[in-house]
Amino acid sequence: MKTLSAAVNALDKKSHINREIYGHFSEHLGRCIYDGIFVGENSSIPNTDGVRNDVIEAFRQVRMPVLRWPGGCFADEYHWRDGIGEKSTRKKMVNTHWGGVTEDNSFGTNEFFNMCEKIGCEPYLAGNVGSGTVEELADWIEYITFDGVSPMADLRRKNGREKPWKLKYLGVGNENWGCGGNMRPEYYADLYRQYQTYCRNFSGNELFKIVSGPNGDNYNELDKIMSIVGDSHAKAVSLHYYTIPSGDFFNKGSATKFTDEEYYNTIRNAQYIGEVIEKYNAIIRRYNKDMKISVDEWGCWFDVEEGTNPGFLFQQNTMRDAIVAAVSLNIFNEHSDVVCMANIAQAVNVLQCLLMTEGDKLVKTPTYHVFDMFKTHQDSELLYSFTEKTETNGIPAVYQSASMDKDGKITLTYANASLDEDFEIKCSIVGAAPTKAESLILTGDVRSFNDFDSPEKLKPAEHNAEIIHGGVKFTLPKCSVVSIVLS
Ligand code: AHR
Repeated sequence: MKTLSAAVNALDKKSHINREIYGHFSEHLGRCIYDGIFVGENSSIPNTDGVRNDVIEAFRQVRMPVLRWPGGCFADEYHWRDGIGEKSTRKKMVNTHWGGVTEDNSFGTNEFFNMCEKIGCEPYLAGNVGSGTVEELADWIEYITFDGVSPMADLRRKNGREKPWKLKYLGVGNENWGCGGNMRPEYYADLYRQYQTYCRNFSGNELFKIVSGPNGDNYNELDKIMSIVGDSHAKAVSLHYYTIPSGDFFNKGSATKFTDEEYYNTIRNAQYIGEVIEKYNAIIRRYNKDMKISVDEWGCWFDVEEGTNPGFLFQQNTMRDAIVAAVSLNIFNEHSDVVCMANIAQAVNVLQCLLMTEGDKLVKTPTYHVFDMFKTHQDSELLYSFTEKTETNGIPAVYQSASMDKDGKITLTYANASLDEDFEIKCSIVGAAPTKAESLILTGDVRSFNDFDSPEKLKPAEHNAEIIHGGVKFTLPKCSVVSIVLS
């Protein structure tokens, strides 16, 4: 087994890792909200105000810091007034983007904000710019956050909520270059300026406004948007980046049946996000020195599972997804000076989900376990770290990051993307002398997954990290994710 030298400098704190980098996204799409999160108050599945208890518990366990809602593409055809008040009279609509199903609006603003309180996460709203109005969005903010007497605050009270909620994160539109209105960048950027003007800070609430970015790595469009919004009140611009093995949106590839070559292409495409973040940052800096990047949507996007509704975007989640999650989260940590938030798509039953549900059963995917293993990075300080370079199939094999929390505990996370090479890591630690190493490993065949018959085929197990003179050593087997907490 090859030994790789590594190092962590506990005296070199690089940037703060916002806990929102470990964020999530939930859309009215397929079985994410209905069945996945919300089953209704009268369901026989244990729930609190209609939200599944097992889902709340699982999200609390990974310390879900933020949840984006109601879309995605759905956000730009969502009219919030249809989802408040007495349920039997709520207006129904057709979810035209996702399967053409009837949306009964039984999960709306009150249900979402109350659920976020139970999970203990920040709500993140995507506002409707594509088919809404400035007034509609302004009223939504007033309904949610105004404490005094006003038409919207009174409406909220009538619907059973006396005190306002807090709303920090507000996305002004979603993918307005595409499903959010097919707008030219200049047109959207002007609309952004107009819409954000009327999104007020009520009753001590402070909005963190996010501009909808261009399509993936379309830097030219980002430049155009930034040249118009750079001096406005935007705190961040959004980046949506999906990992598609083939790179072809219309022929993505199977979630479970893939060749080694397709696997390596997946990892190659996943790690490319580091370059995209750096190029976004260079453009943003030309116009604004403080604006950040919010990776609003990221994750693997494969062909839907056979026999499922193509509009529901349901895909299995294998050890390959776990490697992509670990590679991506390590990259986000390493760019935490500019990445303020990242939301994996999506939370339940859709795309690279954390949880899958079927009736009263719930399965935690390998991606869920990676979020659990990495959660001690949340709100820690990124430390300088380094691992001797090694390649597999033309890409780096090993991805790492390290951080220190406020109590001085160091978290070290690793992914080994190689399918055939095991490594031993000997990591020196400068500026700290930990005496205890607690480590976990997630590993298995790259095509294996958890399902309702075998829900625990892939789950973290205790690992072999041990303190050595001046550092720590451990093995990093092929196709594995390792986390270590040093104290
Ligand atoms: O996550 C699925 C879709 O992907 C979202 O609705 C949209 O924003 C993106 O194109």
